Amino acid sequence: MCRLPGASVASAGNITTCLPSGETSKFAVTPSRSTGVGDHTRGIEAVKLSPTLANIGDAAKCAADAGADAISVVNTIPGLVVDVERRAPVLGFGTGGVSGPGLRPVGVLATWRVRKAVALPILGVGGVSSAADALQYLLAGATLVGVGTAALADPRQPERIVDDLGAWCGAQGVRSLGDIVGALQWPST
Ligand SMILES: Cc1cc2nc3c(=O)[nH]c(=O)nc-3n(C[C@H](O)[C@H](O)[C@H](O)COP(=O)(O)O)c2cc1C
Repeated sequence: MCRLPGASVASAGNITTCLPSGETSKFAVTPSRSTGVGDHTRGIEAVKLSPTLANIGDAAKCAADAGADAISVVNTIPGLVVDVERRAPVLGFGTGGVSGPGLRPVGVLATWRVRKAVALPILGVGGVSSAADALQYLLAGATLVGVGTAALADPRQPERIVDDLGAWCGAQGVRSLGDIVGALQWPST
């Protein structure tokens, strides 16, 4: 059984971090033991990968070999916010997971790397707050796009994104968003 470093398992729409190894692995950055996907849940199982993985493509292959139905990228990235007056961390746990716009290029790159590594469906998530953001993930190879932080800030934002994606397709003459999945044109060297 291969290891699934930096992984969590999503099932039935409920994302559950699995295999935490210690106090600092709130988002399962360093799991301590091996497991097979399917040990924990029934139904469609998406393995969620951390952007801190040294080789996210290999981790995706590992998840695929273990029986994952889909890959989700990315989870938040560890960050530290300092209150300079108190000279202490702002967040209660000291460090925390960074989400939102700063995470987007990290997530899009992870999506692109995972797309090259495995043929499984990919849920791209991280920093999406507009149709253009969602399109970046789709072009990089995501088959589904998630909205987290932006939806917490404004629950209507995902609906606007869907509307704007429809408008973009109309303007671009794209009949189906599926037609642009993985259609990123890489510069030739
Ligand atoms: C408040 C909050 C709680 C989260 N809880 C979890 C969690 O329990 N399990 C998980 O895998 N990801 C969790 N995440 C990470 C999100 O699913 C997502 O991967 C990340 O926030 C990047 O997307 P975003 O920039 O659209 O928020 C959480 C994110 C936020 C902001």
